[in-house]
This record gives sequence, C-alpha cells and structure tokens, in this order.
Amino acid sequence: MSYDIALVPGDGIGPTVVDAALPLLDAAAAAHGFDIETTRYDWGTERYLEEGAMMPEDGLDRLADDDALLLGSVGHPDVPDHVTLNGLLLPIRKGFDQSICKRPAVLFEGVRSPLRGYEGGDIDILVFRENTEGEYADVGGREHRGFENEVAVQSAVYTRRSTERIVRAAFEAATERSGKLTNVTKSNAQAHGMVFWDDVVDEVSEEYPAVDVERLLVDAASMDFVRRPDEFDVVVASNLFGDILTDVGAIVTGSMGLAPSANVDPDRTHPSMFEPVHGSAFDIAGEGVANPLATVLSGSLMFDHLGETAAAAALWDAVAAQLADPSAPRTPDLGGSATTDAVAADLRERL
Ligand code: NAD
Ligand code: IPM
Ligand code: MN
Repeated sequence: MSYDIALVPGDGIGPTVVDAALPLLDAAAAAHGFDIETTRYDWGTERYLEEGAMMPEDGLDRLADDDALLLGSVGHPDVPDHVTLNGLLLPIRKGFDQSICKRPAVLFEGVRSPLRGYEGGDIDILVFRENTEGEYADVGGREHRGFENEVAVQSAVYTRRSTERIVRAAFEAATERSGKLTNVTKSNAQAHGMVFWDDVVDEVSEEYPAVDVERLLVDAASMDFVRRPDEFDVVVASNLFGDILTDVGAIVTGSMGLAPSANVDPDRTHPSMFEPVHGSAFDIAGEGVANPLATVLSGSLMFDHLGETAAAAALWDAVAAQLADPSAPRTPDLGGSATTDAVAADLRERL
C-alpha cells in the first residue's frame, strides 16, 4: 500500500519541522507495511516575493488527487499576514471543504505545564473548530479609504451544513470519549450567528442523549482553560474562537511546539490537511531549534485519518516516551537546549 502525500513546508520554521518529521513518518510507515510517496511544493512567501503569488493558480488542482497534505506553516514578516494566509493556507482549508479542525491539547507525562499543580495525564482536551467559515468568511469590504467616513465591514457566516458537521463531529467524539462536550459561543453579544450555533447544538444534542453538554461564553471559557483545564474533554467552537482557545490549550499543556492539528473534509471528497497549530515563528526561524514534535504528532493524526492506526499509534507513543524520558533531548521551548535534528534523531531510534 502506498499513499500520495503532498508536502507544503511553507515559511519560517515550517520547512525545518517538516524536514525533521518526514523521515520519522517514513520509518513508521515502513515498519507497518506501507509507503508514503511525497511530492514537495515550495509554495510560500518566497515564491510570492519572486512571482507575485503564494501558489500557482491551479495549486488546489495539483493537490486534489493526493491522499493527504502535510503543511508546515505560512506567514512572513515582510508580507502582511492577510495576504500570505489568504494566498495559501486558508484557500486550501476552504477549497477542500476541510470544515472539521481537530486539535488535541494533551499534557504529556514529563512535560511541565506553566500552571501550578498539573501533571502528565491531567489535561486532555480535544477541540473541534469549524474551519471554513464563521469569522473567517471573506465577506466584507472597505470604502472611503483614508477619509473620515471610512467604513470597514467584516461579516461572519454560519451555514447550517458546516455548523451541523462540526457539532456532529464533536458529539461523536464526546460519545467515544467521556460523554462530555463543552459548547463555546458568545451568544450574549452575537445574537444571530452564535444563537443559531447554539440552536444547532441543541438540535443535534437530541440525537446524543448520553452526552452531557456544558455551555460557556468564550471569555469565560478562555479563563477556564487556565483555571480548570483538567475539567474539559471535547470542546466545540467557531473558527475564530477555536483558533484562540487552541493557542491557550497548547501553552497550558507545555508548548506551541507540541500542538498538532487535523483539517478534515468529512466527506473525503478532497484530501485532508495535517499541520502543527503553531505558525512560522520567525523569532526562532533559522536557528535549528524549533520543536518538531507538533508536526510529528500531526503526522500521527494523518496516519490515523488514512486508517493506518498502528503507525499512528507508533508515532504518538514514541513522542510520549521521549517526553517522559528525563534524559531525552528537548528543544528550548520545553526547557532544553537540543536542536530540532537531535530531537528527531532520538525519536528515530525510539521508532
Ligand atoms: P507562532 O505560533 O509562529 O509563534 C508563537 C510563539 O510560539 C513564538 O514565541 C514561537 O517562537 C513559539 N513557537 C511556535 N512554534 C514553535 C515550535 N515548533 N517550537 C518552539 N517554539 C515555537 O505565532 P505568531 O508569532 O503569532 O505568528 C508568526 C507567523 O505565523 C505569522 O505570520 C502568523 O500569521 C503565522 N501563523 C501561521 C499559522 C499556520 O500556518 N497554520 C499558524 C499561526 C500563525
Ligand atoms: C492557525 C493559524 C491560522 C488560523 C492563521 C495563520 C490564519 O492561527 O492555524 O491556528 O487562524 O487558522
Ligand atoms: Mn492559530
């Protein structure tokens, strides 16, 4: 069995972490009786600066027949983020209908949370983030630029189709896990989109009577991700709220460098995309010290999606074992002084 995987390493630390993770994915695949055939696309801000576009016009068509995509990160200090992200990452998520974004936030054994009193195993959150619309809809405009009557409109968009999909996916996961789901909205201030969202949660909840639904406003949820992260299990939120909460989830479980994500098309019409939650981290880019583990764990989510559950578990378990080993190399974000490559080499031996 062989899978076609498109690699889009992107900008900043993206290529560093993808290059470090790839041999580990290859090794896990080989050990479990399958291959990955990768095609690398050097799309990103350097291409934009040379050719005026982050990817070719037919970029999505080129990726459409792949089994999955592995992305590093996109974003560069020399070009405004709304240009780079709307030129590469967001069109893939939207164009391939990857409406379900799954983001685990797990406090691994051996990792120190910046919060007092939490140990490995105490925090295990799975955020379901709507990933194609909501506050990220490209709907709006600006008029009278530079004048006193300048106006900017940015409309959020919530469709029944995508809202039901993300909510249902979260209920399914809650059913498989502890039966607890937290729905995060801001219905006190956003009386249309967010109240619609809550209505969908109420409707879908009737199909899952065994799931206990907690409702939180996003401001309180942000506070509680810090105050009582151990009490969350499955969380469902809109695009923007899910984005913000997963940075909080990443840091309370130790580092941005440990947080993986899956952008899934639930119909499997298009390839799904796997990427670390973090960005291109230009503050450490080029230093060779970016933590590659978020990307390795994203590879694990990718194998799981492809049905290669044993290889997925092998990658996940190797990361967990490395983190639990006090003598293993760690990158500076985890308090160590090891390089990206040293962490990857150690993981290769464990695999
Ligand atoms: P960031 O996630 O790049 O960095 C935030 C902090 O986390 C920085 O201190 C960084 O050094 C640290 N960090 C992140 N990943 C790390 C890793 N693997 N190892 C060690 N430390 C790590 O967020 P930012 O600084 O807000 O954004 C930088 C750029 O990346 C911007 O252009 C932004 O738009 C873009 N971005 C892209 C994505 C993506 O491609 N999915 C995600 C987030 C941000
Ligand atoms: C993420 C990132 C992106 C998002 C940005 C870069 C558009 O922050 O993947 O979390 O908000 O989805
Ligand atoms: Mn983010």
